[in-house]
Amino acid sequence: MYLLSHFSSSSLYLQIFLVLLWCIHTLEFLELASAATPKVKVGNISKVEDAAYFRIYYGQTFKVIKNTLDGKSYLLIQNNTRMASRTKYCTSRIKSFVIPLANYSIEADYYFPVSFFELLGMLGNLKGITSTYVASQCVLKLYQDGQVETINKSEPQQLAQYAAHFIANTDETQPCNFATFVPIGEDAPLQRAEWIKYLGVFANLENRANQVYDAIKENYLCLSKAATSKTSVKPTVSWMDHKDGVWSFTREPYKLKFVEDAGGVNVDDSINKVTYNMSIPDDLEEFHAILCTVDVVIDETYTSDPAVYSASTFLGNINLEDQSCFAFLSNQSLWRYDKRVQNSTVLDWYDGAVSQPQLVLADIIEALYPTGNYNTTYFRNIAKGEGIISIGPEMCERDSSIAMEPTVVACQ
Ligand SMILES: *[C@@H]1O[C@H](CO)[C@@H](O)[C@H](O)[C@H]1NC(C)=O
Ligand SMILES: *[C@@H]1O[C@H](CO)[C@@H](O)[C@H](O)[C@H]1NC(C)=O
Ligand SMILES: *[C@@H]1O[C@H](CO)[C@@H](O)[C@H](O)[C@H]1NC(C)=O
Ligand SMILES: *[C@@H]1O[C@H](CO)[C@@H](O)[C@H](O)[C@H]1NC(C)=O
Ligand SMILES: *[C@@H]1O[C@H](CO)[C@@H](O)[C@H](O)[C@H]1NC(C)=O
Ligand SMILES: *[C@@H]1O[C@H](CO)[C@@H](O)[C@H](O)[C@H]1NC(C)=O
Ligand SMILES: *[C@@H]1O[C@H](CO)[C@@H](O)[C@H](O)[C@H]1NC(C)=O
Ligand SMILES: *[C@@H]1O[C@H](CO)[C@@H](O)[C@H](O)[C@H]1NC(C)=O
Repeated sequence: MYLLSHFSSSSLYLQIFLVLLWCIHTLEFLELASAATPKVKVGNISKVEDAAYFRIYYGQTFKVIKNTLDGKSYLLIQNNTRMASRTKYCTSRIKSFVIPLANYSIEADYYFPVSFFELLGMLGNLKGITSTYVASQCVLKLYQDGQVETINKSEPQQLAQYAAHFIANTDETQPCNFATFVPIGEDAPLQRAEWIKYLGVFANLENRANQVYDAIKENYLCLSKAATSKTSVKPTVSWMDHKDGVWSFTREPYKLKFVEDAGGVNVDDSINKVTYNMSIPDDLEEFHAILCTVDVVIDETYTSDPAVYSASTFLGNINLEDQSCFAFLSNQSLWRYDKRVQNSTVLDWYDGAVSQPQLVLADIIEALYPTGNYNTTYFRNIAKGEGIISIGPEMCERDSSIAMEPTVVACQ
């Protein structure tokens, strides 16, 4: 471990805390350690209620985030303390950052969910992006206006000029200013959304993070309660995708959870096979039988051009002459989550839909229990010929330096 400076004796308790942190990485012990420190007056704090893969601990002049997905502890030191100028950690287990971050950059290449920063009101400090693969109209506008520049990832000194560089990928080798942000590692929609607290800590925006998460959670639970208490027969839903002649049903927990919370039943509960090869007659037969039990299909098939993916593309891929028993077709309930897309490649499904799951839930409820008077955000019904919305900088209608408000869906 590289300890780049020495602690002053006045921070003895901090030193003890850090040594404990360094040596012992079990959550239980950490909780014990932080409880054992004297009660100190700290500012606004965030408590993790639902997320499984990160924890936050508060000291007097510093905070620690423990991220179990990348195995790192982030030591965040307030910029107005002596410790900030004297201490720097950059080891495989601990990294230190001075907060609030003066500026930051993001690695956009792998669908970075930048909407979390928008909800916090942190876009003003975003200075660099590694590509324009972003689904946010306001980040595109900042880029167009020259307030955010592109960084060449192959040039380390370009990345090093930011106080933090956020990445959504835990596999990379990481220079000292890299911080991983991985809400998609969680198994349930609200758990993913709660990662707003993780970012809030870097900007002393705990209050804002708590407020956004509480609003989203309340709305999500209200919508879910109304949908799951419907007395009608619960529709059966399948998430499925086609690749190289094989159809697969998803097993991703957060998707199955969305269906349950929307008052639906997952087809997966009743089948034990996941993939069906359309060239094998037995598979085809069984796949056909399963599809006959499904009321709502969510077609996740990858396409390089969502604009031209239609119901006929789907029918071409299922390769079945006789479609008479498919309720999802006769009832026109065939959906895709690529309604909002930037430059044909970047789906807002991997961005806005992660930070605001209440909107996804509202979409799925509309798919399962159609009212006809709710405009979906992320889902489009290709059985009804619904097309895509192409995201561009001209769609940014708000002042990006001000926090974006979460959208609250009407719910009794
Ligand atoms: C807590 O947050 C509120 C609202 O953002 C702010 O006015 C207040 O100064 C914060 N308190 C501390 C101690 O940071
Ligand atoms: C600490 O951060 C705040 C907010 O960004 C800034 O106004 C202040 O100048 C910084 N203080 C120091 C000592 O860097
Ligand atoms: C990025 O940097 C690498 C290495 O210096 C260079 O070869 C490449 O041309 C640069 N790419 C762009 C788009 O400037
Ligand atoms: C980012 O902030 C750091 C201070 O933390 C400063 O040294 C650096 O020049 C800033 N970089 C940019 C690109 O604004
Ligand atoms: C599907 O089955 C055909 C015929 O058995 C086989 O040639 C093909 O490799 C299989 N496809 C996949 C992706 O397994
Ligand atoms: C079609 O959807 C309606 C609700 O929109 C439902 O009442 C009906 O049972 C569905 N029909 C079939 C065949 O699934
Ligand atoms: C759109 O995508 C193409 C192909 O990936 C790329 O060459 C082009 O630069 C992108 N345009 C923008 C504005 O991002
Ligand atoms: C749905 O969107 C259309 C087109 O923007 C608009 O005319 C309509 O009023 C919207 N409906 C609802 C219920 O918001």
